[in-house]
Amino acid sequence: MIGVTDREDTMTNTIRTKVGIIGGGPSGLLLSQLLDLKGIDNVVLEKHTRDYVLSRIRAGVLEHGFAELMREAQCGDRMDAEGEIHEGFEINDHGTMHRVDLAGHTGGNSVVVYGQTELTRDLYDVREKMGGKVIHEALDVAIHGANTDSPALTYRQGDETFRVECDFIIGADGFHGVSRKSIPRDVLNEFEKIYPFGWLGVLSRTKPVNPELIYSKTDRGFALCSLRSQTLSRYYIQVPLTESVEDWSDDDFWAELRARLPDDVAARLETGPSIEKSIAPLRSFVAEPMRWGNLFLAGDAAHIVPPTGARGLNSAASDIYYLYHGMVDHYLNGDGAGLEAYSAKALARVWKAQRFSWWMTTMLHHFPDQSDYDRKLQEIELAYLLSSEAAMTSLAENYVGLPF
Ligand code: APR
Ligand code: PHB
Repeated sequence: MIGVTDREDTMTNTIRTKVGIIGGGPSGLLLSQLLDLKGIDNVVLEKHTRDYVLSRIRAGVLEHGFAELMREAQCGDRMDAEGEIHEGFEINDHGTMHRVDLAGHTGGNSVVVYGQTELTRDLYDVREKMGGKVIHEALDVAIHGANTDSPALTYRQGDETFRVECDFIIGADGFHGVSRKSIPRDVLNEFEKIYPFGWLGVLSRTKPVNPELIYSKTDRGFALCSLRSQTLSRYYIQVPLTESVEDWSDDDFWAELRARLPDDVAARLETGPSIEKSIAPLRSFVAEPMRWGNLFLAGDAAHIVPPTGARGLNSAASDIYYLYHGMVDHYLNGDGAGLEAYSAKALARVWKAQRFSWWMTTMLHHFPDQSDYDRKLQEIELAYLLSSEAAMTSLAENYVGLPF
């Protein structure tokens, strides 16, 4: 049992901490690590095992500000050694490739290509090394008194029930977690947009087709060529929501991907067995406010984006940046202004990421029921981007990450 005090009653083991964090994904772990380094005691409750969390294949493009935060968390060594710095990416417009010069349009900024799975593994390792309190298989997590001065969490492990008493609760439990749902309906406003397609993704132990990512717009639909390393490729194709993974053999996938790439790129595509294959629907979602009493939402618990702009994980990181600084000001400097401003500050940046993700998604995908007028606008949007330094600068500054 970790951190159980002698104040336990007969029914429940009681743990006292400053910050109770629900969710051991990247958001919860990064905050836990940053707070611990400042001496702010915290406990993470994760409902799954570590292996389960690390089996999820997610995105892999980190803003430079996020990479800095990982270094500040003393967790950047492997990211710096094994991650790739990308100073640009390619857009394929119906067979013609155009390079987006991220560094050139942002005064030298770039992104780090490093898989979320590896980043999460690094966070688990460093939490373990520091003796962090990360409790796995914490079931039936419930929030109590979020809107009072004595908030608490309860959870079950096997037959035992535990109570975590804390000053603040952080809901970092992803889109399907309990924290957002525990905020009263008349307090929470939810905004949602569902796209009429999904992405079929394949991970394969093959050499990436291109040194930089390729975002590909074709009449057959969108495709993305991404990578995790020089021996691990990640590819996606846009598919209708009616399709399921079973409809797609590896051969079918490779054939369709090839058909959505320029001929010379398709010719050098290395194929192999998929080691992961899944379909993700494309959806945008924001919940406001991101604070209710002493409960703070962070990451996917509060907002999700379609993956086209590579903002999902990065938006989570900016929440953690604001929360971390708010907590440090509160505990170390006796200044509550950062926490007071958290929801407004986080949402201002979240909505910019929502706009950028919507814009990238709308510009690059094939929309089944599009009017001729909308198709013409979509074509000119991309043509304008590719011909305008100002538009390219706007794309680049959003892709490398707006300032926190
Ligand atoms: N109790 C405890 N843990 C929970 C509960 C619960 N009721 N519900 C969910 N969790 C855990 C999940 O098992 C998961 O490990 O919370 C964690 C949430 O992690 P993520 O879903 O990865 O969310 P987050 O940490 O905010 O990560 C940011 O950005 O767009 C994305 O792909 C990106 O997942 C990434 C996210
Ligand atoms: C990925 O590598 O999984 C990835 C990269 C860029 C995106 C989306 C996903 O925009």
